[in-house]
Amino acid sequence: MDSIGIFDSGLGGLTVVREVRALLPRENLLYLGDTARVPYGGRSRETIARYAWEDANFLVHQGIKILVVACNSAASAGLDKLKQHFKLPIISVIEPGARAAVRTTKNKKIGVIGTRATINSSAYLTALNQLDESVEVSQVPCPLFVSLVEEGWENHAVARQVASEYLAPLKAARIDTLILGCTHYPMLEKTIREVMGKQVTLINSAREVASVIKDTMEHENISNTEVTNGVIKYFVSDAPERFVEVGERFMGQKIQPVEQVKLINQTLYPNHNHK
Ligand code: DGL
Repeated sequence: MDSIGIFDSGLGGLTVVREVRALLPRENLLYLGDTARVPYGGRSRETIARYAWEDANFLVHQGIKILVVACNSAASAGLDKLKQHFKLPIISVIEPGARAAVRTTKNKKIGVIGTRATINSSAYLTALNQLDESVEVSQVPCPLFVSLVEEGWENHAVARQVASEYLAPLKAARIDTLILGCTHYPMLEKTIREVMGKQVTLINSAREVASVIKDTMEHENISNTEVTNGVIKYFVSDAPERFVEVGERFMGQKIQPVEQVKLINQTLYPNHNHK
């Protein structure tokens, strides 16, 4: 029961692992990437919610003390159900990102970018308006960003061109704060900054969630008090080779050990046929 469990649709959640590791080096981390079913971002809400439940269920059965939903698409679709079913502290990237944006904006115009699933769910919009109903929110799905990052093209001319297209409505809306509402987008920070200009503050949800995890664990009295460094163990649902290859670029360090696992049978998903 001494690990932080973190799951994502694939390897993008390693941007969250990187931040958690930097802030909480003593903690043991269990990471699950559902690489057999990635990407989640173009799927329906029902399907993503079921996947999220299966991912969470796997990690909870490993014995974790806190669950982190690193995947924005999974959090947008499935967080409520996870909170109803699992009795441990559950943290997602959405609320910390929204909170940081509301704290940052001066002109009260906030942009949100993410996968289609995240943007269609309006999860960030809802969270932002709950914190401050006077903020004006402009949302744009940027589905091609995930492929560009996985291809290693985040600083390529193609990425700049795609970013200019996607982000044009946000520039026109004169936002001063932009939430990077997808695990992969912190890898594109430089390109997005070039396109949006220095006057727009980028909110990295991965970084924000790390400090919320720290605060929650202190509050719940479940922080690891040992002085030795924690270990990270990785689980994936497909063959690990590509995960390791691309993931090491995300993490800037070796990824091991990685174990391929089967996620639980979907028929066990509660109320699956009658939501
Ligand atoms: N991890 C996903 C997210 O943050 C991006 C990749 C996917 O579509 O599965 O929304």
